[in-house]
Amino acid sequence: MGYGVGIPPPKWVMPVAILLSLALSVTSSVTYDGKAIIVDGQRRILFSGSIHYPRSTPEMWPNLFREAKDGGLDVIQTYVFWNGHEPSRGEYNFEGRFDLVRFVKLAQVAGLYVHLRIGPYVCAEWNFGGFPVWLKYVPGMVFRTDNEPFKAEMRRFTEKIVGLMKSENLFQPQGGPIILSQIENEFELVEYYTGEVGKAYAMWAAEMAVGLDTGVPWVMCKQADAPDPIINTCNGFYCEGFEPNQKYKPKIWTEAWTGWFTGYGQAVPHRPVEDLAYAVMRFVQNRGSYVNYYMYHGGTNFGRTSSGRFIATSYDYDAPIDEYGLLRELKWGHLRDLHMAVKLCEPALVSSDPTVTQLGDHQEAHVYESGSGDCAAFLANYDPQNDANVTFRGSQYHLLPWSVSVLPDCKTVVFNTAQVGAQSSLTRMTPVMSIPLLWESYSEEYTSADDDDVTVMSGLLEQINITRDDSDYLWYMMELKIDPDEEFLKTGRFPQLTIWSAGHALHVIINGQLSGTVYGGLDDPRLTFSDTIRLRAGTNKLSLLSVSVGLPNVGLHFETWNAGVLGPITLHGLNSGTWNLTSQNWSYKIGLKGEGLGLHTVSGSSSVEWMGGQSLVLKQPLTWYKAKFDAPEGNGPLALDMIGMGKGQIWVNGQGIGRHWPGYTAQGNCNKCTYAGLFDEGKCRTDCGEPSQRWYHIPRSWLNPEDNLLVVLEEWGGDPQGISLVEREVASVCSEIFDGQPPLHKHSLPKAHLRCPSGQFISDIKFASYGTPQGSCGNYAEGSCHARRSYDALRKNCLGNQNCSVAVGPKVFGGDPCPNTPKKLSVEAICGRLPPTPSHRGHTII
Ligand SMILES: *[C@@H]1O[C@H](CO)[C@@H](O)[C@H](O)[C@H]1NC(C)=O
Ligand SMILES: *[C@@H]1O[C@H](CO)[C@@H](O)[C@H](O)[C@H]1NC(C)=O
Ligand SMILES: *[C@@H]1O[C@H](CO)[C@@H](O)[C@H](O)[C@H]1NC(C)=O
Ligand SMILES: *[C@@H]1O[C@H](CO)[C@@H](O)[C@H](O)[C@H]1NC(C)=O
Ligand SMILES: *[C@@H]1O[C@H](CO)[C@@H](O)[C@H](O)[C@H]1NC(C)=O
Repeated sequence: MGYGVGIPPPKWVMPVAILLSLALSVTSSVTYDGKAIIVDGQRRILFSGSIHYPRSTPEMWPNLFREAKDGGLDVIQTYVFWNGHEPSRGEYNFEGRFDLVRFVKLAQVAGLYVHLRIGPYVCAEWNFGGFPVWLKYVPGMVFRTDNEPFKAEMRRFTEKIVGLMKSENLFQPQGGPIILSQIENEFELVEYYTGEVGKAYAMWAAEMAVGLDTGVPWVMCKQADAPDPIINTCNGFYCEGFEPNQKYKPKIWTEAWTGWFTGYGQAVPHRPVEDLAYAVMRFVQNRGSYVNYYMYHGGTNFGRTSSGRFIATSYDYDAPIDEYGLLRELKWGHLRDLHMAVKLCEPALVSSDPTVTQLGDHQEAHVYESGSGDCAAFLANYDPQNDANVTFRGSQYHLLPWSVSVLPDCKTVVFNTAQVGAQSSLTRMTPVMSIPLLWESYSEEYTSADDDDVTVMSGLLEQINITRDDSDYLWYMMELKIDPDEEFLKTGRFPQLTIWSAGHALHVIINGQLSGTVYGGLDDPRLTFSDTIRLRAGTNKLSLLSVSVGLPNVGLHFETWNAGVLGPITLHGLNSGTWNLTSQNWSYKIGLKGEGLGLHTVSGSSSVEWMGGQSLVLKQPLTWYKAKFDAPEGNGPLALDMIGMGKGQIWVNGQGIGRHWPGYTAQGNCNKCTYAGLFDEGKCRTDCGEPSQRWYHIPRSWLNPEDNLLVVLEEWGGDPQGISLVEREVASVCSEIFDGQPPLHKHSLPKAHLRCPSGQFISDIKFASYGTPQGSCGNYAEGSCHARRSYDALRKNCLGNQNCSVAVGPKVFGGDPCPNTPKKLSVEAICGRLPPTPSHRGHTII
């Protein structure tokens, strides 16, 4: 059926494969028609997943790709991150996490194609939408419009990336895995607001890209007027109603949102997989032939790469593979089953047009039937509340609310989007330090206006123009001379300082004492400080530490959005009334002293004297902490539990782990979540009242066996003794299988499949009930009907194994406990580190 054709061969046959692909290179190609992308002459239904290379480490890539391949993906989609590749103009970086060539080649080794979204504007909740900061300061620059300096730089970078890919033979006609590219990104709204200049720019970008002659099609997502031969594509939670702008272009969904990003101060988003599967199946039944999950693995915004919308360091995105590279069970497995079901329909989907018939008020059948006998049907129930019984080709079918059933032969249901056969799992963060971390502290010296390395300027200046984003921090300083005759010195009614700032956070320090901290939020970065301040007669030192939390990544001309203390600043309640400090001379200094000394690096950390033991400084603002630790055994993913800390940054062995901000607790709506009904990003949030992000991923590959240097810069004041190193592991796996559930895997009886991650084993069956069990993974309970021998088959088949399968039916569990009642099996198995000893087999292990 063509499935598998054109998939690159595994690694061990590479030399032969290279010869082969050279020999075949004249015939290999990627084209398209109104039905699908055509690879090597074959129309393909393709599933793709976004994995952004700098959001994980090269050491993680092979495993992520394996998990993607096992999950039924055909393609990996990534943006290209300009600011990572060209940190200063003309100086390129393609090393480490930015080794794009290695990323693309490893995808090919795993048997996956690649969709390269060059942009170079990428949005992506990534600092400045992927643009280098220097780009803004090129004379005459205006981003993303018909502007010559911008177009010249965009062309130069796009040519650089296409040239690099070509020189490594990475486009599919050259024998490589890249089957699609992308130019620009979600531009149509900007075009709408900017009119003619926007349109002219979009057409220029399209023509420039096509002129680069990559041999594979280009897409422009959210660009309804994308000119031929570029394919316009859809991004969103649902895309079934989308149509490309020409009948001869395939219907492609470049971003099927699997979840949403977390912002500091926001509750954590989730999208139920039943709704995601429903959205994907509606797209497929409506002629959609290419679906990309955004994100398939979200990963981590390491260092200072997250964007200035208060985006958290975690970019987990509730994706099918979690931030740490572990499968998000249920989501990953249910989508794998979906992909398998759709692939069974591929011959019919690529060779016929659908016939749609009404089966009820809210029910439809979409049937693909080709002349050569292939037939696939999709039975949909759009009702978010009620299930439905429909008749299709003389047979009865039961449809769950808000679901689509898949019949690859137009007869047998192999999959329903709302009926999950895949296992679910519970993860936990297990402390792994045998001894507590031994902390030392260093108190950042408050910079003041009379330091010798400050610059004096008249008035208040925009922050990024000064820092060029080399640091989050900019000091604004001045001296206030208070006359001994001031009335407030006698009455104690101190004057009120009011500061307006464009954001993103601000610490106000008077005479070396922190007077207050204010910060904006994801919806509005601006902030106001307004409070009385204790001034004394004579000279007072006013130091404002303005903190940026990344640069904006989206919005009309976001490059012009300001950060920092832009005023006005007033001091109210003096003998002469109100002083306006806005246009005074201010002293400026970029960054913290500790940053200048490189305290976060292994070599720089020894340049100051640290305090330990009794002298350890706790709960004081602007304090650096360091500790050493040995790498824990094993290879499970690691994180730092930052509970007890406020806001700042973390480094391990000089590598930026990211900005921490557990002090910013999640506001919002954490109502109960149901899969049915239209989803939006506000719908299924969790963690209200908790830190938006508590755990921070530490990649294993950044650790040495011993003596790793952990450095934390704390702005607010926190107690580092609460920080601990934890390992993320799967605690247990669960399966719920209904009697008579469609057997996707062609078994006579439906089966419960359980699998612990590699290196872990099923050490106990915590719960098993065949009958009418209640609850969900982690809190199952027996219902009124329960087969007494529910545990036996599971213990026998599963204990001590990494994985197992158990058929579900009355015979397996010692007879039917309640005839004529619909039954299911619910099981929770504990994943342990060590296999149980043989003598324990078949018994419960505690
Ligand atoms: C559909 O049929 C099943 C069993 O045949 C029944 O339990 C269910 O209530 C029916 N649903 C509707 C909406 O009629
Ligand atoms: C940046 O600062 C310089 C001088 O310090 C000023 O001339 C220039 O206008 C500023 N640019 C922007 C974009 O704010
Ligand atoms: C303070 O001065 C600035 C600039 O000189 C001016 O824009 C602002 O309106 C003044 N504010 C007050 C409250 O006087
Ligand atoms: C700022 O400093 C300059 C140079 O030292 C001085 O001439 C000027 O008067 C100062 N401006 C203010 C508002 O104090
Ligand atoms: C299941 O476990 C066996 C060993 O217990 C292992 O060889 C096999 O690879 C596992 N299969 C999967 C799909 O994990």
